[in-house]
Amino acid sequence: MADLKVNFAGVDFRNPLVLASATPGWDGLHLKEAGEAGMGAVIPKTIGPLQDWAAHPRNGRMFLYRVGNSKRPIGMINMELFTTKSRDEWIAKDLSVARQGGAKIFASILAMPEPEQTAELASQIEATGLVDLLELNASCPMPASTVGMHIGKNPVLTSLQVKAAKSAIKLPLSVKLTPNVADMVEVAQAAVEAGVDAITISNSIRSFAGVDIESGRPNLRSYGGYTGPAIKPIIMRHFSEVARAVKVPLSAVGGVTSWQEVVEYIMLGASCVQVATTIMWNGLGKVAEILQGLSEFMDRKGYRSIDDFRGIALPYITTVEELAKEAPRFASIDQTLCRNCDICARVCFYGAIKQQDGQVLADRSCCDGCGLCAQWCPAGAITLKE
Ligand SMILES: Cc1cc2nc3c(=O)[nH]c(=O)nc-3n(C[C@H](O)[C@H](O)[C@H](O)COP(=O)(O)O)c2cc1C
Repeated sequence: MADLKVNFAGVDFRNPLVLASATPGWDGLHLKEAGEAGMGAVIPKTIGPLQDWAAHPRNGRMFLYRVGNSKRPIGMINMELFTTKSRDEWIAKDLSVARQGGAKIFASILAMPEPEQTAELASQIEATGLVDLLELNASCPMPASTVGMHIGKNPVLTSLQVKAAKSAIKLPLSVKLTPNVADMVEVAQAAVEAGVDAITISNSIRSFAGVDIESGRPNLRSYGGYTGPAIKPIIMRHFSEVARAVKVPLSAVGGVTSWQEVVEYIMLGASCVQVATTIMWNGLGKVAEILQGLSEFMDRKGYRSIDDFRGIALPYITTVEELAKEAPRFASIDQTLCRNCDICARVCFYGAIKQQDGQVLADRSCCDGCGLCAQWCPAGAITLKE
């Protein structure tokens, strides 16, 4: 049977699934329950100061982004800031309750306005002896200035924060970066040079929840963090770019809803994979479902450990310029599978799909090899061939 154990920045987790810092870990009891549900590690809501600028809206701060006639939610925008518990409560009670769940405690601390404050906070949390490693949150997308992504989008400020935290603790430190940048690699490299042990990619995407057209009012009256299935391609872009550029262990977080996405992130180089929104939407039953799917997949593929397939997709990523040099391929329709539904003709703007003698045919002389017909074909009848 597959061995799900992983080592992340020197700490052994019983499996790669981690509860991300979010509402499901707002107190010790819920973290304990997440541990009992089987998580490899759990991350509390970001521990920081209880000050005016750390208070979040209490009159509705979540918005489900829905699409289509079925109004299926594909993402969520939230305006939630940091922990609603004091640092003293975490230290005196909640961290030890969380530990009873059996998962490793991966404590999230806020990168404070001044690096010395961050060092003090990191040292206080380490001194409890109740945490296994720390995650420095330099990436919350909500604050208007000073903290959160305003630190994480800047390589110099990120470096100062990492150095300060590292100088104060002996435990491994991961820095959680923001996707609200054009290039995460330069921030990741600055963090590595500053001595960080691992990187978490990433926090949520600063976003706007849209307008209620009946009332003419914004759905949420400020900007929030976008999370859930819709963000996965954006986070995977940042994640894979950083994975190709740095050597430290990486924790992936963004858009995971199933074991398949956990496998995808591992194949892009993740040592562990975090989940937040899917737990908020579906509950902790998701943990067993994901771990079982991961284990069965590994058995089916003959992978004995997570290391057997970590990073295997990375060498195949290249530039579009390189891909453009490859020999062209053209749409080819397998007539035994084709259902004659005409969807391929509707999506082809090159006029390469034609009806002839009751059959749907692809005309190589018009085909530009975009592959959209193959993506849409409900029967899997279309492939691109030389
Ligand atoms: C309601 C909510 C609250 C969150 N609070 C925090 C937080 O306190 N600290 C933090 O680092 N990230 C926080 N996050 C971000 C998540 O940890 C995670 O990075 C993000 O949700 C993307 O993962 P997902 O798509 O699995 O939800 C929060 C996310 C949500 C949805």
